[in-house]
Amino acid sequence: MPVNVLPVKVPPIKCQGIKTKLVPFILSQIHWVEPADSKWIEPFVGSGVVVFNRAPQRALIADSNQHIIRLYQGIQMGEIDRAIVSDFLQRNGEMLLRSGADYYYEVRDRFNQYASPLDFLFLNRACFNGLMRFNRKGGFNVPFCRKPQRFAQSYITKIANQVDWVAKQMAGKDWEFRIANWQDVLLEAQPGDFVYLDPPYCGRHTDYYNAWSQAEAEALAIATKQLPCGFAVSMWLENQHRKNSHIQDCWSDLEMRVCQHFYHVGAREALRGAIAEALLIKPGFATGNGRSSLK
Ligand SMILES: C[S@@+](CC[C@H](N)C(=O)[O-])C[C@H]1O[C@@H](n2cnc3c(N)ncnc32)[C@H](O)[C@@H]1O
Repeated sequence: MPVNVLPVKVPPIKCQGIKTKLVPFILSQIHWVEPADSKWIEPFVGSGVVVFNRAPQRALIADSNQHIIRLYQGIQMGEIDRAIVSDFLQRNGEMLLRSGADYYYEVRDRFNQYASPLDFLFLNRACFNGLMRFNRKGGFNVPFCRKPQRFAQSYITKIANQVDWVAKQMAGKDWEFRIANWQDVLLEAQPGDFVYLDPPYCGRHTDYYNAWSQAEAEALAIATKQLPCGFAVSMWLENQHRKNSHIQDCWSDLEMRVCQHFYHVGAREALRGAIAEALLIKPGFATGNGRSSLK
């Protein structure tokens, strides 16, 4: 069944390594027809841009970051919707306009104490460079973007519409959002399922939810190759400075598709620039579309 992924729509939260630009590439390379009772499994869901655009009938959607999952669970249960988000951002956006950085840091302290999903959304959209970063104790620690006028009406409407869109994508579907480590999620894969993996980049953006060691990367490769179902793994292949030797070391024997991509989330210049992204697919689950590239 061809998957219609254009135009790609964007979910309400941003995170490092978000695959918005790569969604058409990723989904067009995967051949999976959703056999009856099978599910899409995404252990590193992040913003959710891949699964929301794929919109399978059944899914197990997980991340170790409880804030991401609790926001989407709230939307799924109808506790958070377009109107609630709009009203919340309106009120808090006015406070931000009045008190600037002081208010941002007040919300950040409040979030680090009570972990409200609405505060999470506010911080995610008002913080510096759209970063999602937590300290060793799990506290959100990204500074203010220094734009007190951040929540203009058009911006609030855009975010509220994104919340509404993800709510619609979930509606009537058998989706479970779960706070979990990838090891536990992979154990649930059954023949017929499809697992899409987008692990953190080794040695980059390391923080409380994204600590990713070489040993863990190797363990993931071993466990993934033993899955009883189809899978695809996103991984950077090379940038202007170096090649990712981990692919050769741990992920050979798979179908590799490559897409050129401009990487620009991140504060430091060193984290920006052209990057070739690989999609490593279990043989038998790749479409015949071959190489693809994006500006
Ligand atoms: C590269 S991001 C995924 C980006 C996502 N595909 C998107 O387009 O937005 C990696 C995600 O893995 C999650 N993560 C990190 N370590 C994890 C672990 N041990 N188990 C499950 N999820 C983990 C992070 O919280 C983060 O959301």
